[in-house]
Amino acid sequence: MVSVAIMGYGVVGSGVAEIIVTHRESLAKRAKEEIDIKYILDIRDFPGNPLEEKFIKDFNIILNDDDVRVVVEVMGGLHPAYDFVKQCLERGKSVVTSNKELVAAKGAELLRIAQDKNVNFLFEASVGGGIPIIRPMSQCLAANDVVEVAGILNGTTNFILTKMIRDQMSFEDALKLAQSLGYAEKDPTADVEGLDAVRKICILASLAYGKHVYPDNIHTEGITKITLADVSYAAAWGGVIKLIGSVKKLGDGRIDIFVAPMVLPNGSQLAGVDDVFNGIMVRGDSTGDVVFYGKGAGKMPTASAVVADVIDCIKHFKARKYLFWADGEDGYVLPYEESVCSMYVRASYSGGADIKAEAEKAFGGVKMIARASSGENEAAFVTPEMTVKEFDERAKSLEKAGVKIESRIRMGDL
Ligand code: HSE
Repeated sequence: MVSVAIMGYGVVGSGVAEIIVTHRESLAKRAKEEIDIKYILDIRDFPGNPLEEKFIKDFNIILNDDDVRVVVEVMGGLHPAYDFVKQCLERGKSVVTSNKELVAAKGAELLRIAQDKNVNFLFEASVGGGIPIIRPMSQCLAANDVVEVAGILNGTTNFILTKMIRDQMSFEDALKLAQSLGYAEKDPTADVEGLDAVRKICILASLAYGKHVYPDNIHTEGITKITLADVSYAAAWGGVIKLIGSVKKLGDGRIDIFVAPMVLPNGSQLAGVDDVFNGIMVRGDSTGDVVFYGKGAGKMPTASAVVADVIDCIKHFKARKYLFWADGEDGYVLPYEESVCSMYVRASYSGGADIKAEAEKAFGGVKMIARASSGENEAAFVTPEMTVKEFDERAKSLEKAGVKIESRIRMGDL
């Protein structure tokens, strides 16, 4: 029998407890040990809960109980999760977490402690919820050099964009609907501004290339500026707008990483990932593109990934799983201004201007996009590839010529 403790009895924590209780026999077969929930740490009371006698409020009870060999951290947030996880690892307990904020901020340090103490620190649920991605990348695709990882990593924003694309719902109305359905938080900032997605792409980048990438300095754009006019121009071009987290290895050893909306061609595998679903494409040098698709959030999908990690910890008490990346380095991440892409531009101009000629004067050959219900003195076009810095300079020269750039979105080649 292996005793585990669960820290946090929120949506995911209660799902983890439910799976461990309801799947007792099948989990015992897979782990080759029975799994017993010894403690559940939460500051709240849960009177009448069938596991009521397991609830504790003092973290030290878990820390000081040598019988507890696996600790599940599903509290979320950086503090006190970081301090608790660090102490558990230092005490020689394996830790499983779904906490992307924690892994994105402190992954390298916690993995090093786990290595030093010969225990496991596993976090399959931190990216893509119930979709297997950490284990496939660290094990099944291990023979590949990863060329690129790109994904729809946030279900809430994907739901909002899907409503805008399919039902012509405004961003504001789609957000309200996402909130009423329980997808978006009351304060939706982390989702709609791309903060959740950037944590996830940083974890995948750290895993793919072996060096920690910290989210703080990564270019992060959300979807709040996307309008129905942009959605309609993207459709006229033959594509859809998706919020993408992307990382690519460059020839000089640096990585090009960002989170931003992108116009994807309809033929792209990620273009068909709709509603709250996530899709992650891993481009390996041997495998080519491998795409992972499924529910990236929610109680039971996320809990299923957490419990699978618990089983893995139990099966590897004696032989540590290899999962490691080193600290980050200055100069490792390409400055966003140097990132190269072609850009979709929607612009307004004063009547009579030759917008195509002006756009070409600024950017070189552009491809104009026509849509059925285009506004008066409004145009959209796609620029050739150039660095973001060069785009910004040329955009300024276009604005000087009296053309106002209303929106700009990266074109995706996924
Ligand atoms: N808010 C996140 C999403 C939950 O919408 O994808 C999972 O991280």
